[in-house]
Amino acid sequence: MTESLLPDRARIFVAGHRGLVGSAVARRLTADGHRVLTRTRTELDLRDAARTAEVLGELRPDAVVLAAAKVGGILANSTYPVQFIEENLQIQLSVVAGAHAAGVPRLLFLGSSCIYPKLAPQPITEDALLGGPLEPTNRAYALAKIAGVVQVQAYRQQYGASYISAMPTNLYGPGDNFDLATSHVLPALIRRFHEAREEGRDEVVLWGSGTPRREFLHVDDLASACAVLLRRYDGDDPVNIGCGTDLTISELAATVAEVTGFAGRISWDTGKPDGTPRKLLDVTRLTALGWRPAVPLRDGIAATYAHWRATSGS
Ligand SMILES: NC(=O)c1ccc[n+]([C@@H]2O[C@H](COP(=O)([O-])OP(=O)(O)OC[C@H]3O[C@@H](n4cnc5c(N)ncnc54)[C@H](OP(=O)(O)O)[C@@H]3O)[C@@H](O)[C@H]2O)c1
Repeated sequence: MTESLLPDRARIFVAGHRGLVGSAVARRLTADGHRVLTRTRTELDLRDAARTAEVLGELRPDAVVLAAAKVGGILANSTYPVQFIEENLQIQLSVVAGAHAAGVPRLLFLGSSCIYPKLAPQPITEDALLGGPLEPTNRAYALAKIAGVVQVQAYRQQYGASYISAMPTNLYGPGDNFDLATSHVLPALIRRFHEAREEGRDEVVLWGSGTPRREFLHVDDLASACAVLLRRYDGDDPVNIGCGTDLTISELAATVAEVTGFAGRISWDTGKPDGTPRKLLDVTRLTALGWRPAVPLRDGIAATYAHWRATSGS
């Protein structure tokens, strides 16, 4: 077995530990026997570079996982592009530079599959990065994330830092954001179908045509992939994290309707934007490290729905 790039019982600072991704990564690393270090946003605003460097200097972790970001769906991205580019750039600058200044030997930066060109050949390999124009609806967010990838590569090139980046596909799971103004497609569908059933409505109208194809990965699978990367990957190129299969939004909607018990009609408002026509990541690089996803989509949706109902009282 290859030697781990992470010590046993490592001290790992997870930035964004209350988020969907950060909380799953923290659970996984704790289960693997590591000690997870955290600061709430009130204790440490990661946009504050000086304070972030100070805290990382005090903690001196063995590794940092950067899972803090301003994230949102199409509506939030197109309404607040200023916040999406500026806050993400600020957080990345603070955390990556602060980790380096504190002598942190290992860092994993989490980007997003939206960094790839809108019309990238499918499935998307990591070398598609910067090969064409981006999807306009989330260009500000994507450019901030691309800057993060290049920043990590620059620290590798200039300082020999063992810093890496990963590009997860669409994620979902317990702790997802169910606020319809800012949520991603899957929790938004769960909530809309749940409410339609509760209110006895016989139709749900969804944005777009339903034809775009998307890939969805349970956040616990993402977390296990991050753990594998921290142990085994030390390369310049980002690594895609996905399950390797996709489905249409209309197939997804049908699955969510079935899980939530909505038996009415699903209609499509084709005047609303669809976003990228297809987004499926090539995960050859990740699976070559021995990782495989473990949560089937329908089971993951059912568990996410049950968790949301239990925690929100819905
Ligand atoms: N969700 C997805 O489908 C998906 C897909 C691909 C990639 N990703 C990537 O995964 C990462 C995390 O996403 P997520 O879905 O977990 O987002 P999330 O649930 O919104 O969590 C983001 C976390 O970042 C924290 N944060 C934001 N700004 C901060 C600041 N200025 N100071 C301190 N903490 C701050 C938030 O703190 P509070 O709890 O205080 O708000 C929250 O804990 C992002 O880089 C995203 O690009 C996510």
